[in-house]
Parts: sequence; structure tokens; C-alpha cells
Amino acid sequence: MRHILTALFFSAGMLGAQVAEAATVLITGSNRGLGFEFAKQYAEAGWDVIATCRSPDQADELKALAAKHKNISIERLDVVDEGEIEALAVKYKGKPIDVLINNAGILGDVPKQTFGSVDRANFDRIMDVNVYGAIAVTEAFRDNVVASDEKKIVALTSLMGSIAATGPSHTFYRASKAALGMSMRVINGHLRRDGVVVGVIAPCVAETDMLKEFGYEGPMTVSAETAVSGMRDVIANLTQETSAKPINCDGKPFEW
Ligand SMILES: NC(=O)c1ccc[n+]([C@@H]2O[C@H](COP(=O)([O-])OP(=O)(O)OC[C@H]3O[C@@H](n4cnc5c(N)ncnc54)[C@H](OP(=O)(O)O)[C@@H]3O)[C@@H](O)[C@H]2O)c1
Repeated sequence: MRHILTALFFSAGMLGAQVAEAATVLITGSNRGLGFEFAKQYAEAGWDVIATCRSPDQADELKALAAKHKNISIERLDVVDEGEIEALAVKYKGKPIDVLINNAGILGDVPKQTFGSVDRANFDRIMDVNVYGAIAVTEAFRDNVVASDEKKIVALTSLMGSIAATGPSHTFYRASKAALGMSMRVINGHLRRDGVVVGVIAPCVAETDMLKEFGYEGPMTVSAETAVSGMRDVIANLTQETSAKPINCDGKPFEW
């Protein structure tokens, strides 16, 4: 509705006479990589951006972006810190959030998740951040999403989390993304009757620090800008029909 009002103000030449409320997006892990690019593109498109990150004091690039775009609010949020989640939810209680993007994620220690040398602490950390963090943040902000016009919850999965994908490496990371997909499917079941749609979206193979950690240098790589622009299109076009089904950043569905 707010988007329609904005369009009406523009078309009627009323810009300046009345200011329509912008849509709002909350992003986790927005200090770098894809989260930063989401914050940048949504801010440039005129959205109000709640850009969360673990260490705002050290988020120099994000602070520089927020200095240019007054519609960006930087907030502290470690997705596995329950106290921080609760404090932020209290701060934004009653504020509609149109799109909640669970972007924060870790690859974890690669050798310590290879079958033959697995490590319990590495497993716990990967599952905690990639799965529990997304569920806990979604639970904390569900009322904000339900109260919004767009009502969209997004989680960034990976093509590597598809059961159809094969490969001997990254046991825990793959398992975490498969579990994240199932968790989002369950959340979809809970919130469908409230009109909420859920995006389970893979960012293709995007140039970020994570990709460097991963060590991939193949031909499939796209820039973070292209990946996020594609994912924003996917988010804009989400429907009950596509809700909670895995979609790549190029808009193509892929197997669970
Ligand atoms: N790049 C790809 O091709 C690719 C492919 C498939 C899936 N993905 C997924 O896309 C998402 C973003 O990946 P990326 O490539 O942008 O990775 P990245 O460059 O490594 O960035 C990861 C982001 O997550 C944040 N983060 C990590 N742990 C956190 C925590 N406990 N609380 C809050 N934030 C935390 C990091 O913050 P700090 O700076 O504080 O560490 C950073 O902002 C991840 O979920 C990843 O699994 C990426």
C-alpha cells in the first residue's frame, strides 16, 4: 500500500506536498559481503534500512554508507546473542518490517568439517550461527513482519545445501543450509495464514570474503552487486506459490 501511495504522489505531481512512508528492510550481517550490498541497494532504492552487524564500531564501510544515506540505521546484532536480539526487538516493537533478511552466515573451519577429521565445536558454531541465529531473529521480529505491507522473510541458503548436490567437502556448512531450508519451511507453515511469504534464496556464487575462504575461482562467479540485484528481484516477486522453495539469484528454482 505504501508503495502505491508513493507512486500516486509521484504521478499526481504531489511530491513534496506529502511524504509517504518508505518500506523497511532489516538485514543481518550487513557490514560486509552480500549483507552490505543489500543495505546499499535498498538504501539507494529509497527503503528504510535497519543494517545490523556484530561490531558497529568497526564497520567503517557501513558507517560511510550510512553517512551518505540517512535512511540507514546501524544496529548491533550478533544473531546468536539472545540479549542483543531481545534488546533490538524491544527497540523496534510495533515498527512494521516489510522484508527481514537473514543473511549472516559462516563457512566455518573447512578442514574441521571434512569427514575423517570432524570437530564438535566447529559443528556447534556453524549450526548456531547459520540455523539457530536465523530462527531466533525471525521469531523476534515476526510481529514486525506480520504488521508490514510486504510481509517477507528471507534466508540466504546455498546451492551446496541442496540434497541433490554432491561433493565430499564442507559437511557442516552443507548440513546447516539444508537445516536452514527446512526451518524456513516450518516457519512458512506457521506464518502463511498471516499472509507472510518466505524466500529461501541462494546468491549464485558471489564474490565475497566467504568465497575467498572457500577457495573457489571457477567461471560461475558473479559480483556481489549482480547477486544482490538478482536476489532483490526474487524477493520482489515472491508469492505464496514460491514461498519456502529454494530459488537461485538468477530466479531459477533448484532442488531441495
Ligand atoms: N558468497 C557466496 O557465493 C555465497 C553462496 C551461498 C550462500 N552464501 C550465504 O550468503 C550469506 C552471506 O555470505 P557472504 O558471502 O556475504 O559472506 P561474508 O562475506 O563472509 O559475510 C558474512 C557476514 O555474516 C556476518 N556474521 C557472521 N557471524 C555472525 C553472527 N554471529 N552475527 C551476526 N553476523 C554474523 C559477518 O559479520 P562479521 O564481519 O562480524 O564476521 C559478515 O557480515 C551467508 O549466509 C552465506 O552462507 C554466500
